[in-house]
Amino acid sequence: MTELVLTSPLDMHLHVRQDAMLDVVAPLSAQHFAGAVIMPNLVPAVDTVERLHWYTGEVRRATAGHAFDPFMTLFFRDYTREELVAAKPHIIGIKLYPAGATTNSDNGVQEIMSMAHVFAMMEELEIPLLVHGETHGFVMDREEEFCEVYRALATRFPRLRITMEHITTRAAVQLLDEFPNLRATVTPHHLIITLDDVAGGLLNPHLFCKPIAKRPEDRDALLQAALAAHPKLMMGSDSAPHPVSKKECPGCAAGVFTAPIILPMLAELFERHNVLHNLQAFVSDRAQQLYGVTPPRTTVRLVREEMTIPERYGDVVPMWAGRTLPWRVASVTA
Ligand code: NCD
Ligand code: ZN
Repeated sequence: MTELVLTSPLDMHLHVRQDAMLDVVAPLSAQHFAGAVIMPNLVPAVDTVERLHWYTGEVRRATAGHAFDPFMTLFFRDYTREELVAAKPHIIGIKLYPAGATTNSDNGVQEIMSMAHVFAMMEELEIPLLVHGETHGFVMDREEEFCEVYRALATRFPRLRITMEHITTRAAVQLLDEFPNLRATVTPHHLIITLDDVAGGLLNPHLFCKPIAKRPEDRDALLQAALAAHPKLMMGSDSAPHPVSKKECPGCAAGVFTAPIILPMLAELFERHNVLHNLQAFVSDRAQQLYGVTPPRTTVRLVREEMTIPERYGDVVPMWAGRTLPWRVASVTA
């Protein structure tokens, strides 16, 4: 195949930051994607309706001229019913971070089940819960340990729609089939890399993210589910830009920047496994079905021509900088 057409691709987990960084990275997503779930972990976090309106305006301004729907999220805290009712028309869900689990999450939740009253209101108001699912245990075991929390939430709140964000383990893939109210996002990089790519040879800070890439058997389980267009699995890139000065240093920030290369990367991966026909479901249809969203209709045409990944976008180094991919985005029409 030399050409591939995708309709309204969606990125169901995206960090676009604010200020100058927002202006660099948001257009790179909006030029390929018809919509994205915008993460709220700014400093300070997006955790009031007022700040939500401000941030929505900022994202819209930075993506003006593109057929692009920002699906906004609030940062989870102990919200009142009034706050939830006021926010509901403007958000796709609320993102819960365990305190300290990742970038800008110091004000996350300390004790998850102490927030049962908020989960109950979200269930009643039909507001989805998006979760960064990691405990504070040993770094390779954090997600698997958190599966107990997912089980408890899914059981106690059976009508609460829960998205396990950026899953990285075979255990999380298996959990998807156990509870009707669980669904998940997975990143393109976690379908491809393992911990060996991050730290098995010379350390690669540009592949360091949370959750950390895991074992080959984990990667293979994620890949099989994605290639098969698992009905409860959506592409969420977790593209998370940091300036090069925060990546190439001691105390490297967590986050892999993939926004401009997601579709070419996935085309190569799905083609290599002879399932290019399943890519549309993985990058758009599943998200539309699971969230009931209808993004702008766009047509993205990829061609089998080489794309050399730039060394930098602004002062952000993308994943695989300098490498060549066999596919590129040739045109996008709205
Ligand atoms: C994200 C970021 O930089 O905001 N980092 C990451 O490693 N994925 C936060 C997150 O999604 O965990
Ligand atoms: Zn993220």
